[in-house]
Amino acid sequence: KSILVLNGPNLNLLGTRQPEVYGSTTLAEVEAMCRDTAETLGISLALEQSNHEGALVDFIHDAKGVHGGIVLNAGAYTHTSIALMDAIASVELPTVELHLSNVHAREPFRHVSYISKVALGVICGFGPAGYPMAIRALAERLEGPA
Ligand code: DQA
Repeated sequence: KSILVLNGPNLNLLGTRQPEVYGSTTLAEVEAMCRDTAETLGISLALEQSNHEGALVDFIHDAKGVHGGIVLNAGAYTHTSIALMDAIASVELPTVELHLSNVHAREPFRHVSYISKVALGVICGFGPAGYPMAIRALAERLEGPA
């Protein structure tokens, strides 16, 4: 069993980027939390980040046949990218949409998500702790029905 954790634009700046909104945990620290969770669950994990929409599309395509599901924090592309929505629909991999912040408590333009339309579920507002939650939720889903 394998999961791809994919982070989009500006998430490479985690830790220093608007810490009042996104906290002071760096992306490297978030990724270490993800690795710990995967190890505990006994699953494989790949971690990728890109600031480029097309590169994110490519990561989603390449996940097909390699990973059982995707945890995706698409950053601002969440609110704009039909291409990312179509990529997820195309590969038909269960995808958990993730946000550090509670996007629904923020500006109205963050209330719209193209990713939600094709996601298995959404986790937002729990900061870095959302990543282990998303990995666990996906891992349970990949186990199949009880
Ligand atoms: C984000 C929320 C988005 O609205 C924003 O553009 C981001 C980060 C989050 O993790 O809270 O870049 O996806």
